[in-house]
Amino acid sequence: MKARLRLCVLISGNGSNLQSIINAIESGSLSAEVTAVISNNPEAYGLQRAKNHGIPSRIISHLDYPQRKDFDTALVNQIKAEGADVVVLAGFMRILDSDFIQAFAGRILNIHPSLLPKYKGLNTFQRAIENGDSEHGVSIHLVTAELDDGPLLMQESYPILPTDTIEDLQQKGHALEHQMYPALLQSLAEKQLVIRDDGIYFKHQILDRPLTLNDVSLD
Ligand code: GRF
Repeated sequence: MKARLRLCVLISGNGSNLQSIINAIESGSLSAEVTAVISNNPEAYGLQRAKNHGIPSRIISHLDYPQRKDFDTALVNQIKAEGADVVVLAGFMRILDSDFIQAFAGRILNIHPSLLPKYKGLNTFQRAIENGDSEHGVSIHLVTAELDDGPLLMQESYPILPTDTIEDLQQKGHALEHQMYPALLQSLAEKQLVIRDDGIYFKHQILDRPLTLNDVSLD
């Protein structure tokens, strides 16, 4: 049997991206397993989603660690104990320190609701509407020590209509996110997408633009 990609998924809230990953695994379109779900927020609904599917979940609350460094160390140790090829940030609302990044260098992914490098940080929908943008989007990137920085792996955009509210954009974004994360992870599982110290490759070519769903759509 082909080895499955081992994912440790970090969440802070609803976990709809986690759900899309679980669904893709259960339907057989994503060759992976979620070794554990870790949340810094004990109230995160994503913990219930993990439970519903028999996936181990852990709570590591930042409130229990007055020093940021100690929180990051606890996370690193837990992820190592779970075993993971890829650390998947899916709505994880804490900034990770450089020791964390180093511990899993080249193996941490994040999904962000904007067309990075535009709109790093929070409230991206509101900022796009306020600026009168005609489009917005979703990015998946490798995590580096800078917030919402790091090489872009996948990007999709959608139009902003004059009548669109923040909730409308959230909905459009989520619909894309739920296709993007499973598809990108499957391309890693299949080793179409390869992240190495000397560069990021897609089908043996250096990745010179973010992938789109067309490049990696699930079967
Ligand atoms: C997503 O919109 C993602 O882009 C951002 O946080 C949100 C998480 O949503 N990083 P969910 O918890 O997966 O539903």
